[in-house]
Amino acid sequence: MYRTKTCGELRLADAGSVVTLAGWVQRTRKMGGMTFVDLRDRYGITQIVFNNENNAELCEKANHLGREFVVQVQGTVAERESKNAAMPTGDIEIIATELNVIGESATPPFTIEENTDGGDDLRMKYRYLDLRRECVRRNLELRHNMAILIRNFLDAHQFIEVETPILIGSTPEGARDFVVPSRMNPGQFYALPQSPQTLKQLLMVAGFDRYFQIAKCFRDEDLRADRQPEFTQIDCEMSFVDQEDVIEVFEGLARHLFKEVRGVELPAKLQQMPWHEAMRLYGSDKPDLRFGMTFVELMDVLKGTGTFSVFNDATYIGGICVPGCADYTRKQLDQLTEWVKRPQVGAKGMVYVKFNADGTVKSSIDKFYAPEVWQQLKQAMGANDGDLVLILSGDNANKTRVQLSALRLEMGERLGLRDKNRFECLWIVDFPLFEWSDEEQRLMATHHPFTMPNPDDIPLLDEHPERVRAVAYDFVCNGVEVGGGSLRIHDGKLQEKMFRILGFTPEQAMAQFGFLINAFKYGAPPHGGLAFGFDRFVSIMAGLDSIRDCIAFPKNNSGRDVMLDAPSAIDQKQLDELNLDIRPLP
Ligand code: AMO
Repeated sequence: MYRTKTCGELRLADAGSVVTLAGWVQRTRKMGGMTFVDLRDRYGITQIVFNNENNAELCEKANHLGREFVVQVQGTVAERESKNAAMPTGDIEIIATELNVIGESATPPFTIEENTDGGDDLRMKYRYLDLRRECVRRNLELRHNMAILIRNFLDAHQFIEVETPILIGSTPEGARDFVVPSRMNPGQFYALPQSPQTLKQLLMVAGFDRYFQIAKCFRDEDLRADRQPEFTQIDCEMSFVDQEDVIEVFEGLARHLFKEVRGVELPAKLQQMPWHEAMRLYGSDKPDLRFGMTFVELMDVLKGTGTFSVFNDATYIGGICVPGCADYTRKQLDQLTEWVKRPQVGAKGMVYVKFNADGTVKSSIDKFYAPEVWQQLKQAMGANDGDLVLILSGDNANKTRVQLSALRLEMGERLGLRDKNRFECLWIVDFPLFEWSDEEQRLMATHHPFTMPNPDDIPLLDEHPERVRAVAYDFVCNGVEVGGGSLRIHDGKLQEKMFRILGFTPEQAMAQFGFLINAFKYGAPPHGGLAFGFDRFVSIMAGLDSIRDCIAFPKNNSGRDVMLDAPSAIDQKQLDELNLDIRPLP
């Protein structure tokens, strides 16, 4: 038997018992004739004491233990003289009688502590050491607990878990596919699923009624803090449902998770905000509702009412009121202006109006407007004395709103309003069915090509497709799109029409989606569903800045696994088997 107890479970009541523990040496300290070793395993840390007077040989052995050695220790549990209230095992220590070094360790490249000295790249290269840190391990334990809660909840709601294949055909859904060459079918490729979307719809045609899967998904897209090329969805689909049925079930799941994991009660019914309103008030389809500073459109107040040509030429002018910040210095405001001009934000400039606490007004464009205009602005913005109004303008309303949204989030951050322990969730509904792609020069499906148009808008499909709303909904929490879904088209004719509007010829549609179009000929139930991004959900619950921190072996920002050194070249024999030639790199 390697151990009789773990390093996390001994308490004062165990004093006097003889135990064997096994684990990693967190640290050793010599004090007088004693050597103290903190022994760590997944369950906690226990202090072991070696006493030179009682057993000089054993103490000498303990003095030679290095960090991260794997050892087995036998001894007697004793009450500590100086207790450590910060540790669950802090009332006791083990007076060692035996020490067995099971495995030595090279000096770790960074400290295995909460506040480690290792940088991101180093920790990724030695991820198995990083995972020894309690704060990292806790995230994976939370992930495990959430997976169990989700499985049990969905099982109790008649969902059955079905595994769908990872090697499928390429069915572009927005992002680029990862592809896998087929040895047995030279020149042909599988694609890894961007999501199990079409397969879960086929399960509905097959009569499964309620499906779920904790599904690996793959998308070859540029990475950000909340995006990985390989990620996990809680993927679900239901038959004979309307939008409210789907929302009710998954709002229930979210409520259950927040309650169980964080002890937070979500409101009885979450707000449903139409996409247009979210764009108008927040410039974002994933608004962070933890704070206000909603947009006010200022065209009436500032366009043509003064001589500032930037505003007079603008097609959109919008402002936010930052409470209590009229005392921002010139330097702070200049820095903020530089911030909005960074390429990541892309604004040309920023105008400020300070409504000072003493009732005076100071603006960067004072000279272009009469004082009455500032009073109209104050009223329009709902500003009080002491507030700061920040204004952006441009010739493209949507672009300017997106810039103002970045500024709003930045101000929320600076004012400490984005509290990670507060959760503001809502649904965004009534997305447009299509969006124009400058790159492709055609309409693209906002969600995916299987999304049901709002029945009221179907007459607009031919003449004004851009005005058609989708029966699609996103679950947003604290400014993060945690999940998204829609009702699906279950009528083959309507699906064909969608493909036509999206620019597919009937032959192209058949070649790519024939399996689905054919399936709909054999009795398709009305159906719809949703997928939560599991990594995003876990990281919101854990208050993490990046989803990487809740993934055991994540990729870095260049899509590399630096520990496995993947992706990498393959040898010529493998290339030959796959009938592949690699072009020399330019
Ligand atoms: P969608 O593309 O909106 O919908 O994805 C659903 C959720 O998956 C998460 N997500 C990601 N998480 C980490 N890294 C990524 N690269 C990434 N991309 C997406 C997000 C998102 O809300 N088949 C549809 C769902 C449906 O209609 O039922 C789909 O995949 O949290």
